[in-house]
Amino acid sequence: MDYRSVIASKLSEVTGLEVEAINKLIEIPPQVEMGDYAFPCFALAKTMRKAPQMISQDLVNNEALKLPFLSEVKNAGPYLNFYIDRGVYASDTVSEINTKKESYGCADLGNGKTAIVEFSSPNIAKPFHVGHAFTTILGNSLSKIYEKLGYKVVKMNHLGDYGTQFGKLITAYRLWGDEKALNEDPITELLRIYVKFHEEEKNDPSLTDSARENFKRLEDGCEEEVALWQKFRDMSLVVFNKLYERMGVTFDNYNGESYYAKMADEVVNMLKEKNLLVESEGAQVVDLEEYGVPPCIILKSDGTTIYGTRDLAAILYRHRTYNFDKNIYVVGIPQALHFKQVFSVLKKAGYDFADNCEHVGFGLVKFKNMKFSTRDGNIVLLEELLDESVAKTREVIVENAKTRGVEMSEEEISEIAEKVGLGAVIYTYVKSGRERDIVFSWEEMLDFEGDTAPYLIYTYARTKSILRKAAEQGIKPCDPSSDKLKLLTSDEEYQLVRSLSDFPEAIVKAMNSNEPFMISRQISLCARNFNRFYNNSSILGADTEELKEARLALCEALANTIKNGLDLLGIGVVERM
Ligand code: ARG
Repeated sequence: MDYRSVIASKLSEVTGLEVEAINKLIEIPPQVEMGDYAFPCFALAKTMRKAPQMISQDLVNNEALKLPFLSEVKNAGPYLNFYIDRGVYASDTVSEINTKKESYGCADLGNGKTAIVEFSSPNIAKPFHVGHAFTTILGNSLSKIYEKLGYKVVKMNHLGDYGTQFGKLITAYRLWGDEKALNEDPITELLRIYVKFHEEEKNDPSLTDSARENFKRLEDGCEEEVALWQKFRDMSLVVFNKLYERMGVTFDNYNGESYYAKMADEVVNMLKEKNLLVESEGAQVVDLEEYGVPPCIILKSDGTTIYGTRDLAAILYRHRTYNFDKNIYVVGIPQALHFKQVFSVLKKAGYDFADNCEHVGFGLVKFKNMKFSTRDGNIVLLEELLDESVAKTREVIVENAKTRGVEMSEEEISEIAEKVGLGAVIYTYVKSGRERDIVFSWEEMLDFEGDTAPYLIYTYARTKSILRKAAEQGIKPCDPSSDKLKLLTSDEEYQLVRSLSDFPEAIVKAMNSNEPFMISRQISLCARNFNRFYNNSSILGADTEELKEARLALCEALANTIKNGLDLLGIGVVERM
C-alpha cells in the first residue's frame, strides 16, 4: 500500500500545493518515535504567510488528514508527523507480500520500453578474471532490476573478438599451437602462444609482419584465417559459457566487436557527410573541444578503425534494431573517458539518443590475505575464486551440521556449498557502492553473522525451518486476507514490517542510481530486524493460536522478500542448511 501517495494527495487537497511537490518533500523520519512519514511545512510558509510552526499546528487538527490507516498525526515544530496504525501496516504489508510472492516489488516504470544492458564483454582468448566478474555480476543484477520495473531488457555481451592480436594468435598458432592442449584448456593454450609470440617477436621482426598480414587476411574474409579465428572464438565461448551457466547468467546477444567492425564504414561516411571528420597527425578524428574531452579518433593513419569506431557503429545498430530507451554500459571506470568521447561524437552528429546512453562504471578488485594458485601472479581467475569460496563454505557447513547433530547427504552438502559459496562471492561484489574498490577477505565474506550472503541465506533457511516445524505441529501461517495479521504490533514486529514494506522503493532507488547495493542493504536490514524479532519473541510459543499464525505469516513474508531480493542480485537460496 502506497501510504505516502495517499498522504500526499490529502495534503495537496488541504494546502493547495501540487501533489508531486508534496511527495518529494515528504520524509521518512530517522527515528521511529517521529512517525512513519514527516512533512516539513517550510515550503508552505510563503504562500500561507505564516510561520511553518504555525502551519503544522493548524494542519494537525484538520479532519481531512484523519485517514483510516493512520493511528495519529502529531506536530513537532515545523514538522507534521504521520503515524501509521501498526496493525493496519502489518496486515497490508504481509498480505501484499504473501499474495504477490516473487512479484512483490514489480512495477511498471519502464512501461514496456527497451533497456539495453551491456555487460561482461570479455576478450576472446584471454582469461576470465575477477574484474570481468564485476561487470558480469553487476550487469546481471541491473538487467533483473530493470526487468522487474517493467522494462524490456536486452542483455548484450560485447565480446572483444576483433583486433590485431588475432593476427598474432593466428601466426603463433601455426608456429607453436598444440591442438590437444587447445582442446583441453583453450584459454591457457591461447595465452601460452600469445605470450610466446611477444617473446619471440623481440628477436624476429618477421613475426610482426606475418601477424599483420594474417590480420589483413582475416579482415578481408580469407577462409583459413577466418576459420582459425572462429575456432578461437568458439572455444573461448565454451569456457565463458561454463562460467555464465554456473552463475546463472544469460545473454540475448553475443555480437562482439567483429560484428560491428563490418559497419564501421557507415560511421565514417556519416561523419564525413556531416563534415565532422578532421585530420590530426594523419588520423581522422572528431574534435570534441566543446564537450571538454580530447578528440575521438575514428580512423588511424593507416586507414583502419579503432575500438571507439566500433562502439559508434554498435550504438547506431542498437538504436535501429531495438529503438532503446536506455543503453547502459557496465564497464570499469578506466573507460569513462572513452564512453564520454563516443557519446559526445553522437551528440555532435545530432543523435539525441546519445543522452539515453550511460556508462555505469565500477572500481577495482583487491584481496586481503588471500592466496591463489594462479599461473600468472597478477591475475586471479573467477573460477579459482568461486572454487575456493565453495570449498571454504563446505567446511563451515560440515562443521555446523556436526555441532548441531544434523545428518546431511554428500549431495545436499555439495548443493548448499555451491549456492552459498557462489552467493558469498556475488554478494561481495554488489554490497557496496559500485565505484568503490572491492576488498575480498574470506573472513568477512563467509561470516555467517555479517553483512553477507551466507547470513541472508541462513536467515532464509531458518524461517523455512520454522515453517516446516510448525507444519509438523499442524500450524499454518494465516491467510493474506486474515484479520489476525493486525496482531503484529510489537516494536520488533513493527520494525520488521517497516523494512519489508520499504523493499519496493529500494528497487526503484537501485534502478535510478544503477546501484544494486540499495537492494542488498534493504534485505540485510530486513534480516537483522527479523533476527531481533525472533530472539525476542517466540513464534510457536506465542500466547494464542492467532498470534502464532500471524507470526508464521510474517516469517513467510520475510522469506519471500529475502528470496526476491537475492534473486535480483543473482543469488540463489537453499531451503535448509
Ligand atoms: N572487451 C573490453 C575489455 O575487456 C570491454 C568492452 C566494453 N564495451 C564496449 N562497448 N566498449 O576491456
